[in-house]
Amino acid sequence: MSVNPLFVALDTTDLPHARALAQALSGVAGGVKLGLEFFVAHGAAGVQAALADVALPLFLDLKFHDIPNTVAGAVRAAAPLAPALMTVHAAGGRSMMQAAVDAAESEAARLGIERARLVAVTVLTSLDEDDLAAIGVPGPVEDQVRRLAALAHEAGLDGVVCSPHEAAVLRADLGPDALIVTPGVRPAGAAASDQKRVVTPAEALAAGASHLVVGRPITAAEDPAAAARAILETETETIPRPGRADD
Ligand code: C5P
Repeated sequence: MSVNPLFVALDTTDLPHARALAQALSGVAGGVKLGLEFFVAHGAAGVQAALADVALPLFLDLKFHDIPNTVAGAVRAAAPLAPALMTVHAAGGRSMMQAAVDAAESEAARLGIERARLVAVTVLTSLDEDDLAAIGVPGPVEDQVRRLAALAHEAGLDGVVCSPHEAAVLRADLGPDALIVTPGVRPAGAAASDQKRVVTPAEALAAGASHLVVGRPITAAEDPAAAARAILETETETIPRPGRADD
């Protein structure tokens, strides 16, 4: 059986709620994603508290972007949480990304745990061509996405986070082993919320995604576990996996 691709985004500052969701999703989801909102409110101790008593893999989405020494220190500081996945901004450059990978490797070895897989954010999907031009990056957004994804790959990162609309071209660019993590995924018929261009889980996986990030369609459901199960059962079961996931 292939690895469960579904990571559920717990975007909340409510620790008991995050913990209840993690417990409900244990054994159903492939993991949970905790990001800046939760982390700024509760820190590493909060992450441990939210995931206490559950064996769900953690996607720690803190999107590091700083000088290499500082990012390496942040990656080392996160290692005791044993995240399965972590994010950095590819725009931080090759040395920063290499420092992140080296830190993840050495600290995991020191702790005797499996190292976090590092995935790069290329161009935030909130930015369009005009936004990029305003920060001195002319040309189509896709060119910049591909450039930064290639740089991340060369720097030794395990993959990228991208829009499902970029998944196919990045799968072709990066090859079968890269992790391709896609948010902006909605079950057929679900509300798009503020996601502008959504695709279904099946479409994202068919395009080359190895991991799906889904938040509100699951966390706001009356029965989050049932919502997650429905996504996995009805949307992904017949999809051939184009790349390996995280094993
Ligand atoms: O609730 P929803 O399914 O829209 O949550 C998607 C998650 O993926 C959120 O944590 C959001 O921050 C994240 N994300 C996104 N779009 C991106 C990058 C990350 O929606 N381009």
